[in-house]
Amino acid sequence: MPQTADAAPVGPLERGLTVLRALALARGDRLRASDLVRATGLARSPVDRLATTLVRLGYLREQDGRDFVLTPKVLEFGLAYLRSSRLPHRLGSLAEALADDLDESVSVAVPDGDAVRFVVQTPRRRALSVTFRAGDALPAERCAPGALFAADWDEQGFERWQARMLADPDNTAFPALPAAQISSRPTMTEFRRLAAEARTNGFALDDQLVEPGLVAVAVPIRDGSGHVVGALSVASHTSRHSAASLRERALEPMLRTARRMTEALATHEDRPAVHRPSRDDSLDPKGELGPEYLQSLARGLSVLAALSVPGGMTLTEVAEATALPRATARRSLLTLESLGYVATDSRRFLPLPRVLELGYPTVSARSLADVAQPHLVDLVHRVHESTSVAVLDGHDIRYIARVAASRIMYVDITVGTRFPAHATSMGRVLVAGLAPGPRSAWLDAADLAPLTAHTVTAPDRLKALLKQTTRDGFALVDQELEEGVRSLAVPLCGSDGRVVAAVNVSLHAGRASLQDVPGLLLPALRETARRITEDIALVFALQPIPSQV
Ligand code: PHB
Repeated sequence: MPQTADAAPVGPLERGLTVLRALALARGDRLRASDLVRATGLARSPVDRLATTLVRLGYLREQDGRDFVLTPKVLEFGLAYLRSSRLPHRLGSLAEALADDLDESVSVAVPDGDAVRFVVQTPRRRALSVTFRAGDALPAERCAPGALFAADWDEQGFERWQARMLADPDNTAFPALPAAQISSRPTMTEFRRLAAEARTNGFALDDQLVEPGLVAVAVPIRDGSGHVVGALSVASHTSRHSAASLRERALEPMLRTARRMTEALATHEDRPAVHRPSRDDSLDPKGELGPEYLQSLARGLSVLAALSVPGGMTLTEVAEATALPRATARRSLLTLESLGYVATDSRRFLPLPRVLELGYPTVSARSLADVAQPHLVDLVHRVHESTSVAVLDGHDIRYIARVAASRIMYVDITVGTRFPAHATSMGRVLVAGLAPGPRSAWLDAADLAPLTAHTVTAPDRLKALLKQTTRDGFALVDQELEEGVRSLAVPLCGSDGRVVAAVNVSLHAGRASLQDVPGLLLPALRETARRITEDIALVFALQPIPSQV
């Protein structure tokens, strides 16, 4: 695309991405404003404006009035790449099958400049001391896929690689890399030789390049026209395999899987409908935030998040999907291109694997409890009562997150606490959410023991209450678990609509009459559930929600 006057980079977008990247590199995805100033090299007042805008847009949250923390909404960027490339979709189950066959960790990585970025990971829990996550990057010289990708580099590629090694001798750009016990790096000559060997052999070995004990084999994944588009790796531990014995065991099945991956990449699929960001983001709340709000940052990020269509999107499609004027969408796209987040073939724009650096690996690794926690804190601030999230575990509910109101607590509950499901509001919601078959089986096997004088113990009465729970979308339980305690619960669902957990508010009976509880608490509780559910959809977009949380 020709550079024209309107192609001047969008500064706030560039700086906003710098802030997101700095947070993604920080431990725990969080930094204080003063640390953000240091990490980005920006002055305090632009950092404040950028952070205010990112909080307003829902990409950051302020925690304890001090830290800025990345929220699951940043996953929209990484998901745009993963959805548009279709790599997890097309290759994920082949990688799983190989991992099951070999009983070792299997990954798919793609080239990202002179780095290697994982896009699929199927870890076997016991096998490794380190496991990289989808979205993590490693330097090419420190892993098996690196030599395979370098086999395709031209002179410039090797020069870029060397420049990066000189500029970042401590590999600070690679937070996933374990603290280096290995200080020696290959020279240009050595790395060229490794790349040439990988080309000749058709595979590459990692004999403890990442860290002591970790060995891996990688083979290229080619597209239909023979270009190397990725690497399939099997990683193991020296307690199980040497690099050579892993190659002996894994190479043949890996080559077979890589051929099937080539076929999977070549199959034609219809372009699905344009994916629109699910939230109703008002991109123009100037009236609300005044000059603190950076509209061009908001617009640029909405462009990046919208690019999730396989095969890329034309400028017209981007403008439509984001409801932005073409010229505005185009300026954002060119800025994103200049930063290495987007590629264009002059007609279509595609996100690049580098967008995964914007928090994807760490934020997508959050548990359901991590996802719920900040929303529970917000809810307690609103309603001044205690709130919890629980999952169904046999005939019990088990608490996975809880935030207590500061008023004197009547019930002492911690994470891990179990209660009989039949006598709790969260239990009612969870059992009502089971499919008809499992629900009947659950009821048949349940021991409906009384815990107070109020506990419903008649199966038919409980069945009727479960029906009502499904109809109402909430359960209200009055003193059935403990005298004096009322509780109101609503379900938390995965994107497929299945109930995966429940969230409740519990309160002392003296606080409100039974009839008043829903009016008092249901709107806030439902709003909380909606927010948690939105975050669940992002964090578990490409991975199953663990049933035993
Ligand atoms: C991994 O999948 O974790 C992996 C792959 C290749 C390596 C190291 C680790 O060289």
